[in-house]
Amino acid sequence: MNRPGEWSRRRFLLQTAKFSALAYFGSSQARSSVIEASSPDPQAHHVLMLGDWGTVSDLDQQIAVALAMKQWCSDYGIKPDALLMLGDNFYGEMPGGVNSDRWLKQFEQMYPSSSFPGPVYPVLGNHDYERLRGNKVETQLAYTQRSSRWSMPHRWYTVQVPKQNPLLTIFCLDSNLPGSKGLDPWPWSFVMTKEEHEQQNKWLEEQLNSPRSTPFLAVAAHHPLYSNGIHRDNRALIEEWDLLLRHHQVDLYLSGHDHDLQHLEFHGHPTSFVVSGGGGARLAGWNTQPTPRGWGHRVLGFTDLELSHERLTIRHIAKNAATLYEFSKNRADAPHT
Ligand SMILES: [Fe+2]
Repeated sequence: MNRPGEWSRRRFLLQTAKFSALAYFGSSQARSSVIEASSPDPQAHHVLMLGDWGTVSDLDQQIAVALAMKQWCSDYGIKPDALLMLGDNFYGEMPGGVNSDRWLKQFEQMYPSSSFPGPVYPVLGNHDYERLRGNKVETQLAYTQRSSRWSMPHRWYTVQVPKQNPLLTIFCLDSNLPGSKGLDPWPWSFVMTKEEHEQQNKWLEEQLNSPRSTPFLAVAAHHPLYSNGIHRDNRALIEEWDLLLRHHQVDLYLSGHDHDLQHLEFHGHPTSFVVSGGGGARLAGWNTQPTPRGWGHRVLGFTDLELSHERLTIRHIAKNAATLYEFSKNRADAPHT
């Protein structure tokens, strides 16, 4: 279903994506496939995700993306099972902590329960770790007790979607790692402690070594391992998690940080890498171009992850609520399901 006047741009972008991705997929036998735009299935389960949304100076852009999310759900009759907030949830000061009016303006009213009744699962970004008055990490953890939807029980935690008969397990991680292996502890930010880092690694390995209970498996964190955007590949995170993703046949790695939308694939790699960082913050750096390893576009928007028993579909959606790009993975493709 297309709204009037949108088809030509949408088709151009999709065909551009298809062309560039086929050059890669055709030669690599990757497990994912780019397909023509399809209408989302309102009977399927949906997780909407976005990163880099809690802006201070570009509120109009956050509003535009939030309106597009509502429009998308309204157009297709979708009631998302959950929202996944991919970090940089709050840029700048949050005076009052859990009592800050930013919770009302930029979360509760911005993404209202009338459109998004399900739980909201956040991960922490570098801006959430800014050294400012108050501690935005502790504030976001504490807000879980105040909210019927905001659900961050710990800096790293597991969720399953849907809650009944789940199809997808998501390990939500904190990618603000200590050390100097390429991750940037800014002078104006702090990071996890060494002890927290070790605890997370131990926990993650235990989780991944547990029997898999859903057909699909994802890891979500703010920083991408691989990116065609301004931050490029993150060597420290590749060293940290890439072998785990491969070994445990993780289907998706979901991230933000680069203010764009991307999908990257690598020959023989079981994981599809998705960047969704268009939630509202200012678009910066160069335009993300399609490359042999994937697709990207520096644009405001969000991402819809559709789940059925047999297939997951990722759709990158622009702020006009039109599909920019889409790919899917079949359950049969996953060797350990
Ligand atoms: Fe970031």
